[in-house]
Amino acid sequence: MNNEIHDTSHISYESLLEGNKQFVAKSLAEDPEFFDKLANGQKPPILWIGCADSRVPANQITNTKPGEIFVHRNIANVVVHTDMNMLSVLDYAVNVLQVKHVIVVGHYGCGGVLAAMSNQQVGLIDNWLRHIKDVYRYHTKELDAITDEKERGNRLVELNVAEGVQNLSKTSIVQNAWKNGQNLSIHGWVYALATGEITDLKVSCSNNTNLNEVFRFE
Ligand code: CO
Repeated sequence: MNNEIHDTSHISYESLLEGNKQFVAKSLAEDPEFFDKLANGQKPPILWIGCADSRVPANQITNTKPGEIFVHRNIANVVVHTDMNMLSVLDYAVNVLQVKHVIVVGHYGCGGVLAAMSNQQVGLIDNWLRHIKDVYRYHTKELDAITDEKERGNRLVELNVAEGVQNLSKTSIVQNAWKNGQNLSIHGWVYALATGEITDLKVSCSNNTNLNEVFRFE
């Protein structure tokens, strides 16, 4: 393993436009009607809530195409019920697109999670990452017992995903979908930058029975 990072010196404003031409040509070669069909509408069965990190692009790492995943990303894939942006995406995905799965996807080595674990100030984002400090607080005993800092960070990444899954389940949007008999599951995954592999954290839920009673809507 070397310590170099991926070379981006060949990337420029112009090279992206050139890349787009190649994308169009390649897509049309595979399916001449590809863009005609996409222009007629979308019916993605999946909502992806992931980190804004440039190394975790939803489509590439799942080998999917435009039209197949509805995507929402923010720093450290935080899910909080006061985030109007996330709620709008969730509402549209669940109630209009009728997605069948919502997946919270974290990744090991997440800079946002590591920053939340430290006592250093980064800037405005400290207030966003505060939510992850709360996740740490809920699991202080388990996390403090992990002496290796990298391992502790990775565990916090997983716990932050699990928290996001729980927070999605607590929204009125998801609970109403379940009440109406909609086929909707919430999942938590973690992506390993070092291998490119996704692990299912097995924290899925498809009803509100696992929630603490006070969060359950009738
Ligand atoms: Co991240």
